[in-house]
Amino acid sequence: MDYYLSPSILSADFAHLKEDIDHVKRAGAQYLHYDVMDGAFVPSISFGMPVLRSVRKITDLVLDVHLMIEKPERYIDEFADCGADIITIHYEACKDLKGTLARIREKGMQAGVVIKPNTPNHVLSDVLDQVDLILLMTVEPGFGGQAYIPSSTEKIKELRRMLDERGLQTNIEVDGGIKKENLQMVLDAGANVIVAGSAVFAGDIEQNVKDFLQVMEKGTRQ
Ligand code: DX5
Ligand code: ZN
Repeated sequence: MDYYLSPSILSADFAHLKEDIDHVKRAGAQYLHYDVMDGAFVPSISFGMPVLRSVRKITDLVLDVHLMIEKPERYIDEFADCGADIITIHYEACKDLKGTLARIREKGMQAGVVIKPNTPNHVLSDVLDQVDLILLMTVEPGFGGQAYIPSSTEKIKELRRMLDERGLQTNIEVDGGIKKENLQMVLDAGANVIVAGSAVFAGDIEQNVKDFLQVMEKGTRQ
């Protein structure tokens, strides 16, 4: 199993976004997590297409776009044109989940589905073999810097079991409240793509990334 770190630029300093992105790249992160919020699906509003287009120009990191928006099907083509490599859509926000996931793949991107902390894993049963990645929110979506919800650990384990039973090696991404202190725990539970915002962008960015990667390189699964 491969392990990927996806620093969330929601916690970066936008006055010097390029420098912050260069730091995470230099330190060895593979992905960049890009949180789009619409003020409807979640209370806050972040950034959208124009910023992604600019970020695409200055980095070759894998752009991991997490759409926290109502009816994400409206914007798949546009985010593809702006340079997204992965698009993850919320189960709770999308009526035509299968069609939208298929569209993401048609546009040449990896397709991801995401569920909120109170949405059970089993709602994903029908789409498990149609996604490249499943994102489990380990906080309520909407803001960086929240505390990890402890019951998430069981949920990660259960999802990994569901995938194993079907012979699928699908990536499990976790997002929210991941710190150096609970990283090994979520890896052991079965996550292999790690989002971290405040834990990466507060303080020494390169050192933070290196600390995360040092734990992740050991991994836990074959
Ligand atoms: C929250 C976002 C997260 C956020 C994570 O709704 O989806 O990606 O940036 O931030 P931390 O790691 O600080 O919890
Ligand atoms: Zn996110």
